[in-house]
Amino acid sequence: MSTPEFHAIAPISWSDEHDCLLLLDQTLLPDEETWLHCRQVEDVAAAIKRLSVRGAPAIGVSAAYGLVVGLHGASDDDFRRRFDETSETLGATRPTAVNLRWALEKGREVFEAHADEGVEACRAKLLEWAKDLQSRDVQTNRTMGDNGAHLFQEGDRVLTHCNAGALATAGYGTAVGVIASAFREGRLGQVWVDETRPLLQGARLTAWEMEKLGIPYRLVTDSSVGALMSRGLVDRVVVGADRVAANGDAANKIGTYTVAVLANRHGVPFYVAAPRSTIDPRTPTGNEIPIEIRDSDEVTAFGGHRVSPRETEAMNFAFDVTPNELIAGIITEVGVLEAPYEESIRRALAMD
Ligand code: MRU
Repeated sequence: MSTPEFHAIAPISWSDEHDCLLLLDQTLLPDEETWLHCRQVEDVAAAIKRLSVRGAPAIGVSAAYGLVVGLHGASDDDFRRRFDETSETLGATRPTAVNLRWALEKGREVFEAHADEGVEACRAKLLEWAKDLQSRDVQTNRTMGDNGAHLFQEGDRVLTHCNAGALATAGYGTAVGVIASAFREGRLGQVWVDETRPLLQGARLTAWEMEKLGIPYRLVTDSSVGALMSRGLVDRVVVGADRVAANGDAANKIGTYTVAVLANRHGVPFYVAAPRSTIDPRTPTGNEIPIEIRDSDEVTAFGGHRVSPRETEAMNFAFDVTPNELIAGIITEVGVLEAPYEESIRRALAMD
């Protein structure tokens, strides 16, 4: 078996030479690998909004670099105001992924610790922190991958929804990281990749990653999951999350809840893979998780062509919430958390 090049997919990069953030434009994948050069905070915010960069940890890391981008050209007199505005602009991009708020709050701590050193020194400290956050995210995902791979039995056929891969993080991925680790350990049979309507993160992005990693997979429509499970063709499910509430309820891409209900009906273990930065102790249950509602056009059109009558208004929830009782375990970098989640989450967040 050839060893896949796990570091090959890294969707976020900082250019010291050009003093700007480089983002792989995921809206163009799998056909084109084009890098966006973000020189202003508006570039970063627009890239997050239109999903050029997406996935909870990748949004967090991009926002961290966005704080650095936002201070470009600021003077010692106005850099605090500039920092506040930058943070506000980034914070308003997408509501569900808590990694965004998490990164902005951590960034503010770095800012406050170095603000009295002047804009250049403070910006340099923020850049150092953002780079560290990026590399720690990859390390976290690798550890999470190892923790989750132990759950697999040889030949397991695993289903995943959306893209929780390297593209959705700084590298390696969460759910796809677990799948990649299981593959490396020779435990994986095959991956079922949900296409993930309406924006096809599964078909466009997860399938692209499977190709790059050489992992055997089959693409299925979202509506095939029940048929697959009723035929005994799925051994486990692993998905990512945008926010895990304090009680273990988990928000992820729309359609995840449907998969979880079907998994429960068919006795298939359903796992969520998420780093601790995705767990939000300030959100008590899934009912309080803000759910992004996106443009109607994403549903009424397909590949740029309208598919429904001109007058049609769609309801486009970007995420849904899977209640904790449907989750067999939450795979984190500090181990696999089990019910009762209030307790296991509290313990996990208290660890160093
Ligand atoms: O709308 P997206 O593409 O940002 O949604 C992404 C997901 O739902 C992912 O599963 C989640 O962010 C976890 S990423 C490791």
